[in-house]
Amino acid sequence: MKILVILSAVFFIALVSAQIDRENLNYASQMVRSENSSDPNPSSSASHSDSSSSSESDETLADKIKKGLKILKTKFYSAKNCTLIPPPSLHELHEFFQWTVTHNKTYGTVAEKFCRTIHLIHNFRENHQHNKLFKLGKATFKRALNHLSDLTKREIRTVLMKFAPSTSTRSDPLTALPQARRSVDWRKEGLVGPVGFQYNCGNCWAWASAAVLEGQLRKCRISNESVSVQSMVDCATEYCEGCDGGWPYYGMKWAIDGGIIPTSKYPYLDGEGYCVDRKQEAIGFVDTPYVHDFYYGDAEYIKRIVSSYGPVAVALCVGDDFTHYSSGVFYINNCCTTVNHAISIVGYGSDPKLGDYWLIKNSWDLSWGQDGFAKVARGHNLCSIESTVHYAQIKDVKGNVCRIPK
Ligand SMILES: *[C@@H]1O[C@H](CO)[C@@H](O)[C@H](O)[C@H]1NC(C)=O
Ligand SMILES: *[C@@H]1O[C@H](CO)[C@@H](O)[C@H](O)[C@H]1NC(C)=O
Ligand SMILES: *[C@@H]1O[C@H](CO)[C@@H](O)[C@H](O)[C@H]1NC(C)=O
Ligand SMILES: *[C@@H]1O[C@H](CO)[C@@H](O)[C@H](O)[C@H]1NC(C)=O
Repeated sequence: MKILVILSAVFFIALVSAQIDRENLNYASQMVRSENSSDPNPSSSASHSDSSSSSESDETLADKIKKGLKILKTKFYSAKNCTLIPPPSLHELHEFFQWTVTHNKTYGTVAEKFCRTIHLIHNFRENHQHNKLFKLGKATFKRALNHLSDLTKREIRTVLMKFAPSTSTRSDPLTALPQARRSVDWRKEGLVGPVGFQYNCGNCWAWASAAVLEGQLRKCRISNESVSVQSMVDCATEYCEGCDGGWPYYGMKWAIDGGIIPTSKYPYLDGEGYCVDRKQEAIGFVDTPYVHDFYYGDAEYIKRIVSSYGPVAVALCVGDDFTHYSSGVFYINNCCTTVNHAISIVGYGSDPKLGDYWLIKNSWDLSWGQDGFAKVARGHNLCSIESTVHYAQIKDVKGNVCRIPK
């Protein structure tokens, strides 16, 4: 009953500015009932609520709402980390309810659900403000709610964006790279594997390494399999800390001896496991890993390497705007510069209106951005995206090297 009462109270706040109608009232109470996640026997509760919903009068529900509002005010509404001014509107609560259905969300406790509601509506407002700028031509990308929208900034930082402190080694850049093509989309040339999802693990670095290796395996016709992220999370320990961050270069360096293991032989765990030697199952090995640091960023170098080589891994500094990117070319003023996330660049091009961009692949599932991909402004070292590049020359199990074009 507690969930019903408290959430009805959230709903009630909306009534200050909006006229309630019976349909909305039923909708809200149904949503609340169907998500009674503390109920140990969901099927019995569902049938119970079905039979009661038609007989329940508005009066008793209104009473419950009033009672709930009292509790809400004393218990939650003043909770420091979960406030929202002005309070949620009816329209915004609808948005939240719909979102929980779309993304199949259930929450453990009432307090959590309350805080998630607040975070989601906060993001909804920020997106709305930002998209107004987009309409006026003052922004180059659009924002939208996605499956990450109920996370707090802190959760996103600590869960999805962990990156080990920089200990990256400089290696000599290749000297004369071929001229770059005008635009590249390695997806169209079959070098890009499926989009992954980190879940609760800060292993973006391993996903980015895997994307690079998948590109080379496909380019050299060694294998079309996806590369095991978990093998690197568990086994690559030099300057990498599993779910607490790492560098793509060191993930690939580990595969010199550890081997490039297919996901089918070393599946994803969403966490850290014990390292298992699967060298016998390797489909290839890293021959030479490379990392280059460019203090001021070097878009031209990265463009040339992407053009002739394939997908590469890069690091950048991301925050709220990036988390809610939905379309267009990502660009913000005064982006942070201390890198906290790794992704792969799988192409580049120029949008006639929105400018030059990198085509990037993220590891935040298909629900993020454009089916897991995004366009990020190119040539500005935006968020430090052009300050480092990681890639590798690989070989097959017989030792035939897949040469990097020079
Ligand atoms: C919600 O779950 C609690 C705990 O199991 C239960 O007592 C209560 O009746 C449920 N409420 C509804 C509306 O189903
Ligand atoms: C609330 O935020 C503060 C700092 O912003 C943090 O230290 C604290 O752990 C947060 N509390 C909860 C319950 O998240
Ligand atoms: C929604 O979540 C439940 C419980 O986690 C799961 O059993 C169900 O398959 C999910 N449905 C969809 C459409 O993802
Ligand atoms: C990978 O897929 C491509 C395109 O579908 C195909 O031509 C190629 O033979 C496949 N390579 C391997 C090693 O299976």
